Amino acid sequence: MAKIKSVEAWEILDSRGNPTVRAMAVLDDGSEGVASLPSGASTGSHEALELRDNEARYNGKGVLKAVSNVNFVIAKAVKGMDANDLRKLDATMIALDGTENKSKLGANAILSVSLAVARAAAVSAKLPLYAFIRKSYALRVTGYKLPIPMMNVLNGGAHAGWTVDFQEFMIVPLQKTMTERVRCGAEIFHALGKLLKDKGFDTAKGDEGGYAPRLGGNEAAMKLIVSSMRKAGYKPGAEVAIALDPASSEFYDAKSKRYVLKADKKTLTADRMITLYGKWLGKYPLISVEDGLAEDDWENWIKFTKEYGSRLQLVGDDFFVTNVKRLKEGIKRGAANAILIKLNQIGTLSETMDAIAMARNADYKVIISHRSGETADTIIADLAVAVNADYIKTGSLSRSERVEKYNRLIEIEREL
Ligand code: PGA
Ligand code: ZN
Repeated sequence: MAKIKSVEAWEILDSRGNPTVRAMAVLDDGSEGVASLPSGASTGSHEALELRDNEARYNGKGVLKAVSNVNFVIAKAVKGMDANDLRKLDATMIALDGTENKSKLGANAILSVSLAVARAAAVSAKLPLYAFIRKSYALRVTGYKLPIPMMNVLNGGAHAGWTVDFQEFMIVPLQKTMTERVRCGAEIFHALGKLLKDKGFDTAKGDEGGYAPRLGGNEAAMKLIVSSMRKAGYKPGAEVAIALDPASSEFYDAKSKRYVLKADKKTLTADRMITLYGKWLGKYPLISVEDGLAEDDWENWIKFTKEYGSRLQLVGDDFFVTNVKRLKEGIKRGAANAILIKLNQIGTLSETMDAIAMARNADYKVIISHRSGETADTIIADLAVAVNADYIKTGSLSRSERVEKYNRLIEIEREL
């Protein structure tokens, strides 16, 4: 039984050049684990609190308060604890914080320790991280099934200077192996780049490494993606599908209860948003819509699910924020049929596992996700494999902080 000898955190940069927390845990048998945290831009308002310094350095985005909470508060409380008992570790930190949304110590402080210790304990147990997580949480899953990737090849919204309103246009390669899925994704990504160039569009990229052309309309993105699938030699629908993350809370006007689509010069009610998705469902190989409606628009989420839930995957991201309280209500009221899982929305590995288990029990699909601000940390690839997640969402086929997750999945596939 390895015990926690020390935990230490420091400030590093994420893929957008903003500070984030990296932590290292050392166990008394010499095992070490390091974890680096991501950070969102279109964050849900119900997420656990990411503690920022709000001081002059880094335009207020410094994380030295969170770092100091790890080094001077959490470190003392967890020293000597059994590194294999991740539930007890997380419960201890949750109690130490004592708030509903981890606002005292910061979800970033707590999660960095939760993940660094999990890594160190996996090293100590001489197990790959995915196998260790599966064993630690005694998951009732058998065999390994690698997640299907949702690859964000066209970025909009808050991740791309509002070139289009919808935040993410993703391709979903349906081949049998991860290696083939990655190849399919990359070939379509390059075909899309060439198509954009030929048509005179900008081929600069957004925060998640997808193209960010100013298209003058949201539907133009759907057409271009289907064309690039064909150009790359893949059958739309049969070999590769489309998933959307409009991240609609970002363009929802709560006062007028309208969705403001600037690229389309239209302002839509929830009913008309639902009609729009329904129309696209008939025209394009669309299989999944995430945050298609705003994070607190419960009545319309229920309506959307009633109408389209049998034909379309409806994913709650800002809507559920990896929080079992919100998920439980969604299940009870029949809102959505899938959940996006982001570790830093809730702030510990154990609570993340609880959300996954609850989703599974209710037959909600599970999608493990990165954030728009990332690091080279690949823990989400291991987490997806540990729980046999249905999907993983980790950005485009460019930029190392995105691609490394695919590379880790290829590595795991070889290992298995
Ligand atoms: P975020 O966006 O990481 O900027 O919150 C990702 C998403 O909405 O899925
Ligand atoms: Zn989202």
